[in-house]
Amino acid sequence: MAKPIKVILVAGARPNFMKVAPLLHGIARHNQQAVNGTARIIPFLVHTGQHYDEKMSAVFFAELGIPAPDVNLEVGSGSHAVQTANIMTRFEPICEREKPDWVLVVGDVNSTMACTLVASKMRIKVAHVEAGLRSFDREMPEEINRLVTDSLADLLLTPSEDGNENLQREGVPLSRIRLVGNIMIDSLLANLEKASQSTVLSRLKVEKRRFIYVTLHRPSNVDSKESLVSIMRAFAEISRKMPVVFPMHPRTRARLAEFGIDVGKSNINIIEPVGYHDSLALTRHSRCVVTDSGGLQEESTFFRTPCLTLRPNTERPITMIVGSNRLIKVGELLERLDAVLAGSETLGQVPPLWDGKTSGRIIEALVNYGTEGQSISNVGENKAAMPAGRTTSSVPTLQR
Ligand code: UD1
Repeated sequence: MAKPIKVILVAGARPNFMKVAPLLHGIARHNQQAVNGTARIIPFLVHTGQHYDEKMSAVFFAELGIPAPDVNLEVGSGSHAVQTANIMTRFEPICEREKPDWVLVVGDVNSTMACTLVASKMRIKVAHVEAGLRSFDREMPEEINRLVTDSLADLLLTPSEDGNENLQREGVPLSRIRLVGNIMIDSLLANLEKASQSTVLSRLKVEKRRFIYVTLHRPSNVDSKESLVSIMRAFAEISRKMPVVFPMHPRTRARLAEFGIDVGKSNINIIEPVGYHDSLALTRHSRCVVTDSGGLQEESTFFRTPCLTLRPNTERPITMIVGSNRLIKVGELLERLDAVLAGSETLGQVPPLWDGKTSGRIIEALVNYGTEGQSISNVGENKAAMPAGRTTSSVPTLQR
């Protein structure tokens, strides 16, 4: 019997939960099927507590069937340095006690970087899921987290070829890179049925294709009064033509109060953050998504819902090249939405390897790591592995 592989999986903030869920389910399946000679995986789930509200955290555990974490570090909010330092000091003793073979981190939040730093210095191998994404904008705290995490991780698991190209440009050896596809789509496909049973549209009294779904929380959009006032003005204007559904992140809600912005008289429907199934239903059935979230750029691409991203750049260019995403400035919002309402939007296609099988490829990469004959794929190999001319996913495209 091969020696089991102990893996600490780290999740800290809302966008992490839909990335660890399919990995935990995949590990359970792998262990059931593991025959003599194949190593079993012992998972150990660490929640750093970066997000802690019921609506930012617990609801995702319940909806995604994630088991209770083995440890919750309960770090809570704070400045970047405070939050990062707290995660590090509380994570180190867990690594000392558990002695894992791997620490697996996902995405680009402070928890991702903090746990990578700890594990790396303890010479525990680190695997990074969603490696290689770059916005090339160091104003984004997530870009710093991505750069640090990828420069230290031992196994860089990329969602798309642009990730491989970015890493190679930075001098990362091919032997550390593996193109595995988009883990977010594993969760999306596994939850499609439940999302289709969501009652969110009737609860909000909106009809399919007759509302706009908005989420905004990036400091660059919401932390300046001038920017937030312009954004809310534009949505107030739009809401006269079509209902606007805006589940509000706690950061955005706090800034509205702090800046004394009153949206009481507009038709913007500001609600509490929604759970995963409701968010998928809103993304699938809205006329258009307006967002600054990375995950929503991907989910709207999958559903072929037009997406307007209020950012000057994206670390997910495939959502623009293949998918339905377009970057816009606040000043262009009204004009762009009018174009969408007039039907001149791009619906795009589903990119390659957005097929629901990414967790299986990640588990395979972990189990085979360092074994003789292992083939770590590279850009060329992955291109070769894809049928000629195929630039989109093998998953059937959902009808709009
Ligand atoms: C973090 C991530 C960001 C991700 C986002 C998703 C970093 C650097 N940023 O940003 O990449 O897109 O999560 O939501 O890691 N708060 C609550 N309850 C919570 C969590 C936060 O009320 O459960 C409040 C806190 O008062 C805090 C503010 O929201 O000040 C922002 O939270 P924080 O975790 O610092 O960053 P996010 O903006 O959520």
